[in-house]
Amino acid sequence: MTRMTRRNFVQTLAGTATMAAFPARAQNTGAPLLVAAPGTARLAPADYPETAIWGYGGAVPGPELRVPQGARLTRQFVNRLPQASGVHWHGIRIDNAMDGVAYMTQDPVEPDEAFLYDFTLPDAGTYWYHPHNRTYEQMARGLYGALIVEEPDGAPEIDGEEILLLDDWRLTEDAQIADDFENLHDWAHAGRLGNWITVNGAGSWSRPTARNDRLRLRLVNVANARIFTLSGQNMSGWIVALDGMPLPVPQPFDRVVLAPSQRVDLIVDLRGEAGDEALLISHERDGSFALAGFPIGAPRRTVGRAAPAPLPPNPVTPLGNVAAARRVELRMEGGAMGGMRGAMMGGRMQDMRAMAAEGKVWAFNGRADMPDTPLIEADRGETIRIAMQNDTAWPHAMHLHGHHFRQIRDEDGSLGPLRDTLLMDRGETAEIAFVADNPGDWLLHCHMLEHAAGGMMTWLRVA
Ligand code: C2O
Ligand code: CU
Repeated sequence: MTRMTRRNFVQTLAGTATMAAFPARAQNTGAPLLVAAPGTARLAPADYPETAIWGYGGAVPGPELRVPQGARLTRQFVNRLPQASGVHWHGIRIDNAMDGVAYMTQDPVEPDEAFLYDFTLPDAGTYWYHPHNRTYEQMARGLYGALIVEEPDGAPEIDGEEILLLDDWRLTEDAQIADDFENLHDWAHAGRLGNWITVNGAGSWSRPTARNDRLRLRLVNVANARIFTLSGQNMSGWIVALDGMPLPVPQPFDRVVLAPSQRVDLIVDLRGEAGDEALLISHERDGSFALAGFPIGAPRRTVGRAAPAPLPPNPVTPLGNVAAARRVELRMEGGAMGGMRGAMMGGRMQDMRAMAAEGKVWAFNGRADMPDTPLIEADRGETIRIAMQNDTAWPHAMHLHGHHFRQIRDEDGSLGPLRDTLLMDRGETAEIAFVADNPGDWLLHCHMLEHAAGGMMTWLRVA
């Protein structure tokens, strides 16, 4: 099914991280624990060793968290990693203090320390959680999990639901995680691409189903940098939500592109004959590969169902007057073949060589390090427009914390679906608009994690 050949494996890299043992001294708050810890996972086929990973609960993926819309989620995060960490709840319109961004919304949670996360979930949908400190390393080692917020009612009629977390690992020949996390070539190019793809931590993921069954598939791209282009075989259906947010009208599912951190909710009907297999297929440069298989058994129902109704909308504040809204520009530059000569770093102009020595190879508005002033300071409730210009030779997945936005389409000024991450192609310009109604300091960065660490990161303040 999925590919794994020795040819695909990169050279074994020297050294693996040392896993220290820690004494327990996390406080007992009574909240359920979410522990980040080293563990092992069977990522590769049986004739390979298990892979040493870092995971929530010591596993890949971490525990699936499921809460009803409007409820609170409370977790005592405990760090058993040999590195400071934390938890970011991606896509949640969250209380700023709970956003989990190290050095910005909280201190990093040091090894053997704990942090109590406690927040309300305003929107139903498919979300996920991951660290926000040395994210390029910690996510590549396996730290992520699904966060599902359930619709109170009006949930679609389905025969089953699967959450599929799509990841891309860089494994050595003995199936261990290559520890070249700070490979500057990756940082300046497409980011850390792997050689082994998993769904929910499995190299070959499959679930038996029945003909005419209707499934809800919640897909999350948890890879550091890989963009997935997906289609189905022996299944047909609809896209019902993007980045957690329901589409007002379900769209036919033909192909869908998932950039890092993006989600799509599909409702699919299994169309093959009993004995066939329905497949979720990933289209890549060197061919098409089955990511997930759904062997089809004898039908439980003779006819399929009618087209699904849209999911109930989430309580997102509608955009104000977009034409009159304050507009700020964000120019994205740098990377390989980008022609950038240098950028501001540490308060002065530095050339690319000096930048690269500090691991900075990209810039936003001519700055390679995190600015100490925000890109924009918005009044609470103000509608803001950000015009982004990708002056690089690479695609980028632009993610805004704490809010969902809509793209203002160039052609006619119409508004795209609510999203928290927008994939921008090389050379592309895109303008987004959102209501800055969530007070606090919020990151705006590329979710190709090596790009973010390499300079594609800025922030906004909502008063
Ligand atoms: Cu999914 Cu700033 O992150
Ligand atoms: Cu990027």
